[in-house]
Amino acid sequence: SRTNTFNILVSDTMSKEGLQPLLESPLVECVQKNVNELDQLDQFDALLVRSATTVTEELLLKMPNLKIVARAGVGVDNIDLDAATKHGVVVINAPDGNTISTAEHTFAMMSSLLRKIPQANASIKEGLWNRNKYQGSELRLKTLGIIGFGRIGSQIAQRAKAFEMKLIVFDPFLTKDRAEKLGVELGSVEEVLAAADIITVHTPLTKETKGLLGMKNIAKTKPGVFLINCARGGIIDEQALKHYLHTGHVAGAALDVFVEEPATDRELLDFENVIATPHIAASTKEAQLNVASQVAEEVLQFLQGAPATNS
Ligand code: MLT
Repeated sequence: SRTNTFNILVSDTMSKEGLQPLLESPLVECVQKNVNELDQLDQFDALLVRSATTVTEELLLKMPNLKIVARAGVGVDNIDLDAATKHGVVVINAPDGNTISTAEHTFAMMSSLLRKIPQANASIKEGLWNRNKYQGSELRLKTLGIIGFGRIGSQIAQRAKAFEMKLIVFDPFLTKDRAEKLGVELGSVEEVLAAADIITVHTPLTKETKGLLGMKNIAKTKPGVFLINCARGGIIDEQALKHYLHTGHVAGAALDVFVEEPATDRELLDFENVIATPHIAASTKEAQLNVASQVAEEVLQFLQGAPATNS
């Protein structure tokens, strides 16, 4: 009954195995359904989401018993944090469960972009054998600019070194000392823009990072630069990106995330030198198990009175 069990709503698809701590707990009633499919929402103590569910104030008002929202992933941009604070709802995430998957996906996108693998693959499947069209460039000795040098950015740097790439990174929270220890050159945004052959962004989407690579800043990059966004749609301004793809200043872009998802901007997707994936950087067995079990454990602890650690 309601008095001695916790009611938990899992609104997005999550690893079953990761949710085991909740599914098996005698303390918990777990419902796995999208918020939009339910009429009654007032019984839930906890809400688990990925990125498909948008947690608005309107939703929070329908869930007066809610104590915690858990994001099985990193970015909490789909959750109205101010509204959650206002209504006394704690928000947690799983900050490191998908770091490696996202770094590996970014790396796969970078190699694919420079070697035109998706385009070559599409062409051979159409029955063509066009070896000249798909000449690419090596990663070795190219300068990779990493904007946002947290967990994911630093894992990318480690992999880039194995490929003998040069690195220049920007992160407002990174000191010169720490950068030296990590074996990367620390620069300002301007310095990264001026030096990099390839730029990848790994920041959250905030007021400061929205449109960070926009009309002005892309103009400061090297002609022929490649841009990668496996972080959040909007960090690279899509209108500006299209402009510089048209002029040829940007040689190509690899995108896993979009301002609007599912992605609908055909003009952007139809560029021959734009390669894209449908927000799957964190979609591995390993990452999904990690993030689901991290939030499942923490929600269970929290409902039993422990303080939230990843809030
Ligand atoms: C995240 O923020 O963790 C990623 O975007 C992955 C996801 O949406 O599940």
